[in-house]
Amino acid sequence: MKPILIANWKMNLGLHVAVHEAKNIHKRAVEGVELVICPSFTAFSELQRMLPELTLGAQNMHYESAGNFTGEVSVTQVKRFAQYVIIGHSERRQYNHEDDTIINQKVKSALAHDLVPVLAVGENLEERKAGQTQKVIREQLEKDLRDCRITEETEMVIAYEPVWAISGKDISRVATSEEIQKVADLIKELLVSRFGSGAKSIRIIYGGSTNAKNCREIFEIENISGSLVGSASLEARSFIKIAKILRGVKNV
Ligand code: PGA
Repeated sequence: MKPILIANWKMNLGLHVAVHEAKNIHKRAVEGVELVICPSFTAFSELQRMLPELTLGAQNMHYESAGNFTGEVSVTQVKRFAQYVIIGHSERRQYNHEDDTIINQKVKSALAHDLVPVLAVGENLEERKAGQTQKVIREQLEKDLRDCRITEETEMVIAYEPVWAISGKDISRVATSEEIQKVADLIKELLVSRFGSGAKSIRIIYGGSTNAKNCREIFEIENISGSLVGSASLEARSFIKIAKILRGVKNV
C-alpha cells in the first residue's frame, strides 16, 4: 500500500486560501505518495468543483445518515465529497466529549459507507507519565474497533497521535522515534492478532507536530506509513516537502 500523508487543516483557512493551498498541493503532487486534504466542510464543494482529482477527507462526521442532529454532518453527506474521514481525533475526544462508544459507531458507519476511517488513538500526558501508554492504546483500539469486520479489502488508517505531542511548539514535546516505534509495533501486533490477514490493508501513521525537519526519522520507522499533519500542512510548500521526504524514505 502506498504511504499516505493526510493534511488536517482543522478550523483554519478561509475558502480562498484553502483553494489556493489545495491547488498548490495538487500541482506538486508527489508520485507514489497518497495525499489527502481534510478541510473545513465549508470548503468541500468548492474544492471538489475546482480540483475534482483531489482526495478529500472529512475531519468528522455523524454516524447516522440523516436526522434531527443540529449542526452535524452525516456520513452520507460526507461520502458525497470525501473518501476519508478522521475519527476519534483527540481534540474531538476532549472538546466534544466523544467517547469510545461513539467513536466505534462512527468507525462502523464509515466502513459501511465505504469511507476510509482514519482512526486516531493516543495517550495524554498524565497517562504517559503514569506509564500507561500501551494500556491506553490497547483499550482504545479494542473499544473503537469493536464488532468491526476487517478483511484484506478493507481500507483503514490508524493514526497514533500522542495527545501531548500535538501542536507542540516546544521541541521536548515531540515524541522520539523509539517511543513512536514501540507504539506502532504494538498497534501492528494488536491488529494482526485481531484481524489476521485483514491487518495488511491497515496503514499505521504518526501524528503530532510532524514537520519537514523531524519527519525523516519518523518515516524511517518500519511500521509507520505516513503522517497526519496539522500545522505543517497549512502551507502547500511545507506539506509537499514532507511528502517528498516520505517518498524518499519509503523508496516509492
Ligand atoms: P499538528 O496536528 O501536526 O499540528 O501537531 C496534528 C493533528 O492534530 O492531527
